[in-house]
Amino acid sequence: MKFFLDTANLKQIQEVQNLGILDGVTTNPSLIAKEGIKGDVNIKQRYIDICNLVGGDVSAEVIATDFEEIIKEGEELAKLHHQIIVKVPMIKEGIKAINYFSKNGIKTNCTLIFSAGQALLAAKAGATYVSPFIGRLDDIGESGIDLITQICNIFKLHSFDTQVLAASIRSKEHIIQCAEAGADVVTTPLAPILELLKHDLTDKGLTKFLEDHAKNNS
Ligand code: E4P
Repeated sequence: MKFFLDTANLKQIQEVQNLGILDGVTTNPSLIAKEGIKGDVNIKQRYIDICNLVGGDVSAEVIATDFEEIIKEGEELAKLHHQIIVKVPMIKEGIKAINYFSKNGIKTNCTLIFSAGQALLAAKAGATYVSPFIGRLDDIGESGIDLITQICNIFKLHSFDTQVLAASIRSKEHIIQCAEAGADVVTTPLAPILELLKHDLTDKGLTKFLEDHAKNNS
């Protein structure tokens, strides 16, 4: 399972890149706004900076919701860097655009997926990735992980090339459940990745080992 970081924060991207476990990055307009990046030129520059930090795919989201505009915006984004994946919302015009991009060699990430039917349509249209949102489904009392499992099963059964990119991750448990469900990629904020490092017995065990080493050498 690939690990993507769900942020536009360069410091956090560098932190995970330094661990040697980073496969890519996803962004969205809210994450760009969170970094205080304003204006088309600055936003595009941030996408390029992110691409230059990581070796893998970097999702950059279109703002347009009309077919022609999505195509124009997506083609501009794709030209920025070969690692850019054009992120397109799960709407009728978006599906048309994903189909166009797929036929024209532009990779896409269909975002805001909340049902297996939506994932199926995006895969049929030729999306490179589909992004089902786990946390937001959990928020309304549904199971985000059940949806990941369902989509993974459907894609496997029908041999779709589209990758399941589990998004809206809130905890380390989500990451582990995604791995169990067979997600191809998990995109997560920094905190859940750092949580994966921790276990009380690791801390206690290390303290004891270091104490015993100090005794042996005193
Ligand atoms: C990433 O592609 C999604 O936009 C993101 O994971 C959404 O996360 P959120 O539900 O925490 O905003």
